[in-house]
Amino acid sequence: MNTIPFTRKLMGALALGTSLFVAACELPPQESEQNGYRGTGMDQIRSPERVDTLQALNQIPEPQPEAPKDGPPVSQIYQNVKVLGHLSEGEFLRIMTAITEWVMPEQGCGGCHSDNLADDSMYTKVVARRMLQMTQDINAKWANHVAPAGVTCYTCHRGQQVPQYVWFQDPGPSTPAYMGNRNGQNAPAASVAYATLPYDPFSTLLNDPSKIRVQGTATLPTQLASAGKPIQDAEMTYALMTHMSKGLGVNCTFCHNSRAFSSWEQSPPQRTTAWYGLRMVADLNHAYLEPLKPVYPDNRLGPTGDAAKANCATCHQGVNKPLYGVSMLKDYLAELSAKK
Ligand code: HEC
Ligand code: HEC
Ligand code: HEC
Ligand code: HEC
Repeated sequence: MNTIPFTRKLMGALALGTSLFVAACELPPQESEQNGYRGTGMDQIRSPERVDTLQALNQIPEPQPEAPKDGPPVSQIYQNVKVLGHLSEGEFLRIMTAITEWVMPEQGCGGCHSDNLADDSMYTKVVARRMLQMTQDINAKWANHVAPAGVTCYTCHRGQQVPQYVWFQDPGPSTPAYMGNRNGQNAPAASVAYATLPYDPFSTLLNDPSKIRVQGTATLPTQLASAGKPIQDAEMTYALMTHMSKGLGVNCTFCHNSRAFSSWEQSPPQRTTAWYGLRMVADLNHAYLEPLKPVYPDNRLGPTGDAAKANCATCHQGVNKPLYGVSMLKDYLAELSAKK
């Protein structure tokens, strides 16, 4: 009988499996930081190694040297300025230099401009004008989420033409009908940290955050019937929460006391900031990012033909405050803060 070699093989396979599993974890020592009452398990646990990597990724570029504010506004000098007309020529060229560095460092001015700087023939320039308005709007209208640090183009773009973290409607992997209907889940996706949760919680819940709900609001069967699909709504909620935790690099307990997820009284103030963040993201996608669809070339659109949209990771990129809360906006207040 060859049971012994077989058992050995099995043990070997198990040992290998375990070592692979362990290698995928973050090795100790871990640092933990308490963010709630003692005994509530409200701790943020991070590995120093990961913190170092994130810190290196979140260095900010030097601000451009200050420019003279005197002289006539550029609306009187240039032909086609619709958003930044209130700036002096010095300030205007300073912000052009800054956005080139933040969004198009390789292409330079030519990334948005043809030889005639006033014409709007390049789609990138048309998009960038809308982005200027969006950034001003974020800093003016959504101060309850982004203040005091505020937001610049760099918060999302980080020196890249297309921000690293954007989302499209996700129709899921195409499987033949006889394989059954996945119903939007059970296809591990990066968007929800490879959980088997629904892989596109954004199209529904970032579209309308009022649908985020697990605790039922109805008890009687007749009321439940009109409450929709509570279990699927709950799965969708957990999928979005997983994105939020991963996007900010925090545990659920950063915003909740896990003995009562729905209770606002027991939640840290960060949950309130997140509540505004959810509404802000829905607003940015509806008012600015989705409507840009006809401006983009086809290769920029998603599998169902929609434009790229923002979620929590677009700005946060794995950190609870984007760029660790360092304000780049303070050096560009006239250009990127309130609407003019
Ligand atoms: C990411 C896109 C982008 C880049 C890169 C860029 N610009 Fe612009 N530029 C714009 C937008 C958008 C406007 C219009 C602003 C408005 O409507 O208020 C504009 C307008 C201008 C104008 C006004 C032209 C006119 O007569 O209407 C000048 C001058 C200009 N840019 C110079 C530059 C220079 C110089 C650089 C490189 C250092 C540069 N731009 C890089 C997007 C860009
Ligand atoms: C909230 C995040 C966010 C901020 C802030 C932001 N952008 Fe964007 N930007 C996006 C997203 C999302 C897209 C769509 C990506 C794509 O083009 O596929 C985009 C696309 C662009 C594009 C088109 C790129 C391409 O080739 O398709 C340009 C140009 C651009 N942004 C310039 C700017 C400028 C200039 C600013 C600052 C005034 C800015 N953005 C601020 C999120 C942002
Ligand atoms: C960055 C803050 C934040 C993080 C991290 C977070 N949540 Fe949430 N959570 C919220 C907010 C805000 C709401 C309420 C959304 C609304 O009403 O629009 C919410 C709602 C919920 C609800 C619904 C409660 C109800 O009333 O039905 C559950 C359940 C939940 N979260 C679980 C989780 C879990 C599990 C995690 C970790 C995987 C998590 N959350 C991570 C902010 C957060
Ligand atoms: C347009 C960029 C942007 C987007 C998109 C964004 N945030 Fe934020 N968020 C910020 C900025 C900037 C701050 C830091 C504000 C400050 O304190 O200076 C912040 C702070 C926070 C904080 C407070 C963190 C702390 O340590 O106190 C939470 C929680 C948060 N965001 C959650 C979210 C969630 C959840 C989403 C997605 C629904 C989201 N954010 C989307 C820009 C953004």
